[in-house]
Amino acid sequence: MSSHESNYQPTTRFGKWLDERLPVNRLVYDQLVAFPTPRNLNYLWTFGGILALCLVVQLITGIVLAMHYQPSGEEAFNSLDHIRRNVNYGWLIQPMHAVGASMFFLAAYIHLFRGLYYGSYKAPREILWILGVFIILAMMATAFMGYSLPWGQMSFWAVTVITNLFSSLDSIIPGMGTAIVEWLWGGYSVSGTTLNRFFSLHYLLPFVIAGLVILHIWALHVVGQNNPAGLDIKSDSDWVPMYPYAVSKDVVGMFAFLLIFAWFMFFLPDYLGHADNFVEADPLVTPPHIVPEWYFLPFYAILRAIPSKLGGVIAMFSSILVLVFIPWLDTARVRSAKYRPIFKWFFWLFVITCIALGYLGALPAEEPYVTYARLFTAYYFAFFLIIMPIVGIIETPKKLPGSITEDVLGPGGGKGASAGAAAAPEKR
Ligand code: HEM
Repeated sequence: MSSHESNYQPTTRFGKWLDERLPVNRLVYDQLVAFPTPRNLNYLWTFGGILALCLVVQLITGIVLAMHYQPSGEEAFNSLDHIRRNVNYGWLIQPMHAVGASMFFLAAYIHLFRGLYYGSYKAPREILWILGVFIILAMMATAFMGYSLPWGQMSFWAVTVITNLFSSLDSIIPGMGTAIVEWLWGGYSVSGTTLNRFFSLHYLLPFVIAGLVILHIWALHVVGQNNPAGLDIKSDSDWVPMYPYAVSKDVVGMFAFLLIFAWFMFFLPDYLGHADNFVEADPLVTPPHIVPEWYFLPFYAILRAIPSKLGGVIAMFSSILVLVFIPWLDTARVRSAKYRPIFKWFFWLFVITCIALGYLGALPAEEPYVTYARLFTAYYFAFFLIIMPIVGIIETPKKLPGSITEDVLGPGGGKGASAGAAAAPEKR
């Protein structure tokens, strides 16, 4: 925690000289080596590190791809083929970036649901959580623009459908929506001009994400990590230093994640994409089913569940923005759902709802799917706006462990237990 005094000792004369002028080594030592981490963290706490890894992979592979990619309507489609066939290691780097986008979202959703389950959004972590919501919004904008770049049929039509959503604003001020859409397109239809600006923004936004991540981790290091018991650190036996304990666990988590990543990359590099994107963009041929990538499907289902176009757009954006308010919508006295016998069930129903919405988002917008999507959309919002405030008040939480140490070592706090000594020998 930030209030924890620094016991960094420079080991070389240069280290001491630098520390008195720009204490970067001290910062790294305090925040990434000696930082106190609750001793009861499980593997779900490795996803923050996994996400940081995903961001670095996307940045490096993206910068290399941009060296060979041509952001023009005439050349974009073929330049991707050129990258995969002719550029050195292009066969590796292009799928790494494309599969990497899916893996990034997979990790972000697990990280987000971890936060939801263990109440990591509750005081004092509200800003940390809200920064996370901004990160996911920026990730969505980046992924949407990135998907346009291969300039295949699905790229072109996804851009057409999603940018056109802004035309629904015409029902508020006639002409306003159309004006915004034409401004976004840079013309009267999606064209190479649109592609070019999307490329520029797709290159820019990851750096905005990186900036948000720095703020996110800064906020985390001010308030400290939550943990599966949802308890605060009270005594020295409740925590272990980040290095080597949390770092080694993070590395195990990263390698396990990279195995799944590699499986897709090497064996199913195009599985998560759409076959129509191997056909070059054609403004005169609309594909029969325009579907977004899997990570947008639940939101796409919400968009289509509402009969009015403007209503659908509002519902879709609200489904993410509502997350900003949950630190105040959740009235529970305890953080972790582990100790919330009623909320737990609603939480798992919410997870099923998101998966069901994702499934329905890929199906045609016809009966009975639309009715199902409406029911699940209703539950999606009810979970945040009705269930969270009410269940928090009526539910009696289960008895919490007395401390984080007790959560790991059982009642008595591990007095005389050897497991504790093994976990943090320097604290005994
Ligand atoms: C590029 C994306 C992101 C990166 C690199 C990132 C990074 C991290 C890291 C390193 C941690 C500490 C380790 C851990 O608890 O796993 C963390 C914690 C946290 N993140 Fe993120 N994060 C990202 C996105 C998000 C999103 C989308 C949300 C939610 C909307 C979020 C919410 C949180 C919360 C609430 C915590 C504190 C968790 C706790 O201590 O229990 N993060 N993040």
